Amino acid sequence: MASWLLLLWLLALLPGAAPVPFKPRAAGARAWEPSSPELLAPARFALDEYNRGRAAGSRAVLGTVRGRVRRTAQGSLYSLEATLEEPPCKDPLVCLLPVSKKTMLCTFEILNELGKHILLRRDCGPVDTKVTALVSSLFQPYPDNRNESVSSFLPQLNSDPLHQDFSMKITSVFKDFVATYNRTYESEEEAQWRLSVFARNMVRAQKIQALDRGTAQYGVTKFSDLTEEEFRTIYLNPLLREEPSKKMRLAKSLTDPAPPEWDWRKKGAVTEVKDQGMCGSCWAFSVTGNVEGQWFLNRGTLLSLSEQELLDCDKVDKACLGGLPSNAYTAIEKLGGLETEDDYSYQGHVQACSFSAQMAKVYINDSVELSQNEQKLAAWLAQKGPISVAINAFGMQFYRHGIAHPLRPLCSPWLIDHAVLLVGYGNRSNIPFWAIKNSWGSDWGEEGYYYLHRGSGACGVNTMASSAVVN
Ligand SMILES: *[C@@H]1O[C@H](CO)[C@@H](O)[C@H](O)[C@H]1NC(C)=O
Ligand SMILES: *[C@@H]1O[C@H](CO)[C@@H](O)[C@H](O)[C@H]1NC(C)=O
Ligand SMILES: *[C@@H]1O[C@H](CO)[C@@H](O)[C@H](O)[C@H]1NC(C)=O
Ligand SMILES: *[C@@H]1O[C@H](CO)[C@@H](O)[C@H](O)[C@H]1NC(C)=O
Repeated sequence: MASWLLLLWLLALLPGAAPVPFKPRAAGARAWEPSSPELLAPARFALDEYNRGRAAGSRAVLGTVRGRVRRTAQGSLYSLEATLEEPPCKDPLVCLLPVSKKTMLCTFEILNELGKHILLRRDCGPVDTKVTALVSSLFQPYPDNRNESVSSFLPQLNSDPLHQDFSMKITSVFKDFVATYNRTYESEEEAQWRLSVFARNMVRAQKIQALDRGTAQYGVTKFSDLTEEEFRTIYLNPLLREEPSKKMRLAKSLTDPAPPEWDWRKKGAVTEVKDQGMCGSCWAFSVTGNVEGQWFLNRGTLLSLSEQELLDCDKVDKACLGGLPSNAYTAIEKLGGLETEDDYSYQGHVQACSFSAQMAKVYINDSVELSQNEQKLAAWLAQKGPISVAINAFGMQFYRHGIAHPLRPLCSPWLIDHAVLLVGYGNRSNIPFWAIKNSWGSDWGEEGYYYLHRGSGACGVNTMASSAVVN
């Protein structure tokens, strides 16, 4: 399979890209041999990879397998084409679209090196051509002309039962969404436009889902009626990748190895999940979360601390337009500490600074940058407390639960745009994860938490780790 085809398919996930149908390489273009016993072991391996982390009952089973083998200097290279039968999906907020219920046609490239299989490439899409056409017709950029969008997007007039079925389902799920999140729209046009954005987002969520290598489920969230551009502008933090981070002192590395798992929430070092609202202030929440943990571990009291103080008084950072944890630590030191959430409460927009040093309940003495090695980060976390990190927020707009593990090209470590707090780590069904406190309210993700694959530098989680120091 030419790598440009894969690339095109991946690019289809990026906003604004032309629609590319779910279509693995046409089988006729290659002399696929009929199934032979030699293909069975690599096919089973590919299936196991496909099912990795899925619970019993939600695993696909192998249909037909064809392929061929090439001997190379490294070992045997298998090119397989297999059909995988997906079990019926049960979660209506994740899988109402036909794409998640169908037989998948997959191509795999697998290298067998000294008896060990390595999956080099996988490319899967639904077999049903009607489904494929529907999905690709839906998978378009968000419309510019709000008036045109509904009729072109939800073709109620189209007599095709598949389209009608989809229109009905999506409209009903959208109604539930509007009720659940108490949405009001200014006009009927606005509501219709939001419905079409919502429907596109469901398709996107399923594509992200299909490409996720972890156990994450993507689907309806409270952000499902926003275009990704709107979401980025309102909630994310471009300064994290645009501004060079101030150099901080490197933390001394610890000699104790990381325990197998750790969770600061169970040890009283983490306050409740907060909500940054429509403001790109994640950096402030990430830093207060870290300082809350440091104060608790060094002084024995857990205090919920003020992000608003940082929005108003840290003049180096840009309040709702973003900021950097490294600057925020410096601001806290210069100001003379942090007030509590109760004393200086969150407004979600910038105000005049009203910090008073007498009201500060917490101080910090320094800040440190932490290792990029995730083993060392885990060891540091278990010994010293929750860690401020920055990540690429790819997929988080639609994240519901499970361990996210997006493909690296989709979640580049160089494109970080969101600051959060590592509060623990462990394994779930043998998949290593970081437990991440987010600041989008407890009605997002797993009670406000995000779970991200650990040990692979996923989404740049290891690239901007830092902590305050309380002496
Ligand atoms: C959409 O329709 C409204 C009234 O129906 C009209 O005022 C508006 O200009 C239209 N907008 C576009 C972008 O065509
Ligand atoms: C729903 O939103 C309306 C208007 O924004 C508000 O007045 C009302 O209190 C909200 N209800 C709930 C249950 O949140
Ligand atoms: C840490 O900072 C606080 C407040 O600025 C100060 O009172 C304290 O002496 C500092 N501790 C050390 C060890 O420097
Ligand atoms: C977690 O899973 C990884 C990968 O499967 C494995 O290497 C590791 O030993 C597991 N750790 C624990 C504590 O189970």
